[in-house]
Amino acid sequence: MSLMKTYKRFNLNFVEGSGVFLIEKNGEKYLDFVAGVAVNVLGHSNPEIVNVIKNQASKLIHISNLYYDDNQLSLADKLVGLSGFSSVFFTNSGTESIEGALKIAKKYGKNKRKDKIIYMNQSFHGRTLGALSVTGQEKYQKDFTPLIKNVIPVNFNDVEDLKNKMNNEVSAVIVEPIQGEGGINEINNDFLNEIRSLCDKYDSLLIFDEVQAGVGRTGKFFAFENYNIKPDIITMAKGLGGGVPIGALIANKKADVFTYSDHGCTFGGNPLVTAVGNKIVDIVSNKEFLEEVVTKGDYLKIKLTELSGNFDFVKKVKGKGLMIGVEIDTSKVAIKKIVETAITNKLLIIGAGSNTIRLVPPLTVTIEEIDLFIKLFEKTLKTCY
Ligand SMILES: Cc1ncc(COP(=O)(O)O)c(C=O)c1O
Repeated sequence: MSLMKTYKRFNLNFVEGSGVFLIEKNGEKYLDFVAGVAVNVLGHSNPEIVNVIKNQASKLIHISNLYYDDNQLSLADKLVGLSGFSSVFFTNSGTESIEGALKIAKKYGKNKRKDKIIYMNQSFHGRTLGALSVTGQEKYQKDFTPLIKNVIPVNFNDVEDLKNKMNNEVSAVIVEPIQGEGGINEINNDFLNEIRSLCDKYDSLLIFDEVQAGVGRTGKFFAFENYNIKPDIITMAKGLGGGVPIGALIANKKADVFTYSDHGCTFGGNPLVTAVGNKIVDIVSNKEFLEEVVTKGDYLKIKLTELSGNFDFVKKVKGKGLMIGVEIDTSKVAIKKIVETAITNKLLIIGAGSNTIRLVPPLTVTIEEIDLFIKLFEKTLKTCY
């Protein structure tokens, strides 16, 4: 095997996919509630996306950011229109979107003597050195220190801790509205309101990392729309390309500080990925589509809550829309055991944090497929007992 040992992979090799199903090399069919880790929002090989890729690839794939391309212009317009923000920068991944946001924070603070960035414990923002510096999980950081300086951790949802650490020297606060990798932990309204009002008081930027929770995942196109405040910067990736690599950084007027040569990205927002991004945004931002995400997410939560009554090791069902966590008493059953048992039942799920099963199926999943999931998940939990 010539690959670096960075991933602990399951012994599965997929060759085809359709909707919410994946086909293994041996012909077996799996129900996929991982969706490429919250990426395949329209399912696998969605015919509309396949057509866009075919058409665009036959016309133009890449031209660099030295020139304009209508796909990129129109996707930027759509993201600005939907958010009410000011401008967009395209990247290839979540971690690159975070790097861009951190650079904006640095530039914003430069002449104001603000050189500190606040981040949350249990957060996850990516693996590059800047993003890793504001990822509040020691296990990811420990072999790579020293990381960037002047980053301050705050306990998630802890208003007092935040108040103690916020001051005039803070250029930005970065937060996930729902912590994904950290265990599907939702921000509470008091904490969020306090972040916003302290950012206003101290002239700091509020960065919402919507890499996992954005693009319809919570039942709103942007996760921030679930709350009564607005951030200054939104970072996106994952669902925005439905499987092709694209990320974005959206800034409001206050945070729109980049100028020529401040930042760049060779592949960022090329014609192929932005053609796909346009299609994804058109479909996912549709009101009825988003309402269905809410309906299906509520249904899944109800079914899971019913199920949890039969298993004393299931502690809690949490999350929003189709970003759902099932908290497990890991002193009774290990997450690894549940994930591995699910695979034997032809069901794909993953863990999040130390004690949560994460469910992030394609947003196009049907009620019948959710019923099938519940059947396979119940079978899995019974075997784990
Ligand atoms: C909230 C959040 N931010 C950033 C990232 C990093 O994204 P990527 O893996 O595309 O670099 C992730 C990845 O899981 C994430 O969940």
